[in-house]
Amino acid sequence: MTATIIDGKAFAARVRDKVAAHVAQLKEAHGLTPGLAVVLVGEDPASQVYVRSKGKQTVEVGMASFEHRLEADTSEDALLALIDKLNADPQVHGILVQLPLPDHLDSDLVINRIDPAKDVDGFHISNVGLLGTGQKSMVPCTPLGCLMMLREHHGSLSGMSAVVVGRSNIVGKPMAQLLLGDSCTVTIAHSRTRDLAAVCRGADILVAAVGRPEMIPGDWVKPGATVIDVGINRIERDGKNRLVGDVDFDSAAAVAGAITPVPGGVGPMTIACLLANTLTAAARANGLPEPEGLTA
Ligand code: GUN
Repeated sequence: MTATIIDGKAFAARVRDKVAAHVAQLKEAHGLTPGLAVVLVGEDPASQVYVRSKGKQTVEVGMASFEHRLEADTSEDALLALIDKLNADPQVHGILVQLPLPDHLDSDLVINRIDPAKDVDGFHISNVGLLGTGQKSMVPCTPLGCLMMLREHHGSLSGMSAVVVGRSNIVGKPMAQLLLGDSCTVTIAHSRTRDLAAVCRGADILVAAVGRPEMIPGDWVKPGATVIDVGINRIERDGKNRLVGDVDFDSAAAVAGAITPVPGGVGPMTIACLLANTLTAAARANGLPEPEGLTA
């Protein structure tokens, strides 16, 4: 069997088009421009690339982008004061503080200072609790993107066996909650899981989010399964720098029914879903209907 490739780049472009159409409609009908504030502390090179990309795509869909770049030695009080200001700003509907923060800043404290209604990352403890109890929340962008691709590929996920490898707060745990919400039978596996290969072989849906290059080989994949590879790992091979996922793509694609590539799979969906979440936050803040197909 050769797997269907789930094209995240094309999917993300469709999501952005939908968001742009909704934004145009909000402007036209309500004079409302959704706004996203992104806060970057320090000069982590990867974070700078992400933040630039987020700002560019925000503007491309017609939203307002507010970028706040702070020195690496910014005090916690100064960062909290900025968040308070953004919380109170009616032009800002979404706030994202780029992680990781420098070591002297307490990420939990900072994230939990964001107004939960503006927490477009879905990391605030209130949103985590709302998602865990099946209530309306802001949903973390990467798992939301994975869910959208799975729903489009399968229609209903009800009754499917889903294995999420990885237990991070950003991907693994919210992914498991979303799959449970769609009535999958969910297992969260991780580095300490006994006989991880056998656990993975039981999955109709296998989500890999461990951050270890090509850790999951094809013979851990059930024939016909759908494989969602969240990993983005930089490695050197044959003297060249390459991006690879957490799944060994060639061997997995030979047995899977469908698979996301790296690059061009889950990655592009993350920022597309950030834009979708900002739109959702703006609609909710103004008592307007939420855009269909862009939320969990
Ligand atoms: N750093 C890496 N991924 C993310 C993300 O999804 N949100 C934030 N805020 N920081 C990140």
